[in-house]
Amino acid sequence: MISKNDIIGTSLIVSAQQVERNISKLLNKAKVSQVQLRPHFKTHQNLQVGQIFRAQGIREITVSSIEMAQQFAADGWEDITIAIPVNIRALSSLKELSEKTQLTLVVEHQDAIDAIQAFDGLDIDLMIKVDCGYGRTGVDAKNTDYILSLADSISQSAQTKFKGLLAHFGNTYNATSSYEIKEIFNSSMQSLLNAKAVLDSKYNDFIISIGDTPSMSVLEKWEGFDEARPGNFVYYDWMQCQIGSCQIDQVSAVVACPVIAIYPERNEVVVHGGGVHFSKESIQVDDRPCYGQLVKDPLAFPLEKVEGCYMKKLSQEHGTLHVSDEIIQKFSIGDLIGVIPIHSCLSANLLQNNTFVI
Ligand SMILES: Cc1ncc(COP(=O)(O)O)c(C=O)c1O
Repeated sequence: MISKNDIIGTSLIVSAQQVERNISKLLNKAKVSQVQLRPHFKTHQNLQVGQIFRAQGIREITVSSIEMAQQFAADGWEDITIAIPVNIRALSSLKELSEKTQLTLVVEHQDAIDAIQAFDGLDIDLMIKVDCGYGRTGVDAKNTDYILSLADSISQSAQTKFKGLLAHFGNTYNATSSYEIKEIFNSSMQSLLNAKAVLDSKYNDFIISIGDTPSMSVLEKWEGFDEARPGNFVYYDWMQCQIGSCQIDQVSAVVACPVIAIYPERNEVVVHGGGVHFSKESIQVDDRPCYGQLVKDPLAFPLEKVEGCYMKKLSQEHGTLHVSDEIIQKFSIGDLIGVIPIHSCLSANLLQNNTFVI
């Protein structure tokens, strides 16, 4: 068992037990709803955490880059969706990858389909990215003529197979309650089902894939889709706690930071933990910007919040915590404190080489 003495620098601490619980909770929902869980591995990007998924029977995964797909394929993952519109400059790497693993790519433009079909020897399953209101990527769900023409074009070549429609309801992150998350989910799902209805008259063997952590966490029953791709739920974070996706006791990852300066006169403790460890993402909590939440002990799960103490400012390497009068007396230089990040996916990415799964 790791102790605080083993942790020298800024690190991500992950509770294997809480990870297991988070996976089994969503996996149970998936099983009851007869939905395939294809978790997004971009959150953790960690082979050890991947093994925890595998131990629970997960075989199909999602990633968001070719490099991640290569990393997990090398670790024996044999069914991978790269859920970002395909980069046609990388078709030769994708062809190589598709020879090692069952690969699915995402398209949203005719030119990408043309490039894939013109690339000799690349036989691949394709999903059409549909935008249901998030406004990042995807064909507008209302543009059913174009969606249908893309599906037709994919199906006309023996090289490409139309696998289905893929959407991401990332606008659930704008919600401020689980009620609002459900409202955004329902309206997005309705747009997606309208698009599906147009394809149903012509195609009968395709899937609907969605999956953001807020929706998948708050919905009691998963309906209307075949595949779910949440990623963040494996760790959760302070943003998810604030928008109503989870409770603090479900958070399984925390950033451990050494205390490097203390200023009782201004209620501030400075840690080695800045934008390069947390990213500069913040949320408003009680009308103030918050870059992370202080917990009692970075090695004690379930994590416990320290009231009134939060990360208020970040520079590249420094993090400034606001700390209340009663608590500040307890800090010493060299202490190791724990901060729940706003967005665990970004901290996990930044701290990949300093992650302890305990
Ligand atoms: C296309 C796609 N699918 C699934 C996910 C997973 O969503 P979440 O991070 O809410 O778990 C993401 C996350 O950004 C995504 O971009």
